[in-house]
Amino acid sequence: MADDRVNARRRVGFMIRLAKRAPMDGAFVEVGVFRGKTARMLYILTERMGRRLYLYDTFEGHPYPFKRLKEPTDGIGCHVPKAKDMARLEHDLPGCSIIKGVFPQSAIEMQPIAFAHVDVDSYQSTRDTIDHLWPLMQDKGIMLFDDYGKHFGCRQAVDETFHIPERWVYSRIRRAVVIKGVADAHMFVKRWRIRA
Ligand SMILES: C[S@@+](CC[C@H](N)C(=O)[O-])C[C@H]1O[C@@H](n2cnc3c(N)ncnc32)[C@H](O)[C@@H]1O
Repeated sequence: MADDRVNARRRVGFMIRLAKRAPMDGAFVEVGVFRGKTARMLYILTERMGRRLYLYDTFEGHPYPFKRLKEPTDGIGCHVPKAKDMARLEHDLPGCSIIKGVFPQSAIEMQPIAFAHVDVDSYQSTRDTIDHLWPLMQDKGIMLFDDYGKHFGCRQAVDETFHIPERWVYSRIRRAVVIKGVADAHMFVKRWRIRA
């Protein structure tokens, strides 16, 4: 349990440090909000930086099944946000766009994207998210995959799209990072000295 908390802290810290390296203009996006743990952190950051923030979730649970890497269980029943979670976020995070529905069918028109946090667990959702968001990413825009080390489908979708060293896997927390227009994300992130 304590390990989980440390891991959760590392994971959020890593996301924030990475997001601060996103190009100087452009919007931030999160697909996979659940109750808003990471979204709230991104909100604080985008408010400080004067950026737009788009938050996407079904707020009804996963539209597709997914498998964890270490357990052969179907994860369809977990992480089911509720309508009240969305209402709470709308209240707590004024000024950002919170969009309900299955992404990317739910996608609204967005500004060019500087940072995308993809946390949708399943192969199909990760696949669809990459296909929709990647063309909208700015040069040097950063895409972070939260589930790379956790969910089989996320890993599959990332690996079939990006190649080593185009994608970088942060070994301690097993998140994958890709940077638009950068052939070797590893070198970039190393130079930034981002630690989790
Ligand atoms: C692991 S949770 C996100 C956790 C959140 N980022 C946090 O740190 O608390 C995954 C979320 O992705 C959402 N999701 C999965 N596929 C989706 C899709 N195609 N469109 C919208 N939401 C999706 C689920 O509803 C669920 O709330």
